[in-house]
Amino acid sequence: MFDRCYVCARMLNTVAVTLLAGKASYVVLLFGALLLGIQTTLLRAEDTPQLLTPELGEPLHPSDIENYEITIFPNGKNLPEGQGTVAQGEVLYQTQCAMCHGKKGIEGPAARLAGSDGWFSFRDPLRVLRIRKHPVLLISVGSMWPFATTIFDYIRRAMPHQAPKSLNNDEVYALTAYILHLNDLLNTATQLDKHSILEINMPGKARSVIAD
Ligand code: HEC
Repeated sequence: MFDRCYVCARMLNTVAVTLLAGKASYVVLLFGALLLGIQTTLLRAEDTPQLLTPELGEPLHPSDIENYEITIFPNGKNLPEGQGTVAQGEVLYQTQCAMCHGKKGIEGPAARLAGSDGWFSFRDPLRVLRIRKHPVLLISVGSMWPFATTIFDYIRRAMPHQAPKSLNNDEVYALTAYILHLNDLLNTATQLDKHSILEINMPGKARSVIAD
């Protein structure tokens, strides 16, 4: 400990020099000063959080934080009020998403949203050909994502790619409903909201290792 502390190291050094010079009475004084030095260092250590603050940036107002505190958890925590249907989602999808994800969510060029478990959606027009080409596993939102709540979270924070956070909660519910429908996971009659979304059983869940 002594060799790590600047004050102690200096003190010990001085003690050694004084001893060598044969001035024993100074040693007692210096020893006292050493103890004082240690005490002061320890007292300073209690203040260190303030001393070590880099004093950069400025505190955030709670309303600033709210803007970023939008993570939706698999148990539904943080899911907002609102609702949407498959039909509403389809209209939004065709105008805001299809140009990148394809009319049926399978053509791309951006990430594939439909198809599951190596068995492609029954709505996939090229189903037979695709199964021959990829007989084992198809990676898509429908095949890999373990929770429907993540689809909501992802769309709300990141899509459409060129205008993230531009959709309101009803629109995000509707789009989530449509993507689930493309994956045969939601029928057209069901309205998606903070309760019904928790009832969706995603095929990707069985293939995931979930950390508690
Ligand atoms: C301008 C192109 C573009 C548009 C428009 C767009 N996306 Fe995307 N989307 C992407 C890209 C690129 C990715 C992959 C992003 C990445 O992995 O970082 C992606 C990823 C996704 C994913 C995650 C896919 C995965 O497996 O990782 C979802 C879900 C999604 N988009 C939904 C939507 C929805 C819903 C809309 C319409 C509101 C939309 N996207 C509009 C380009 C787009």
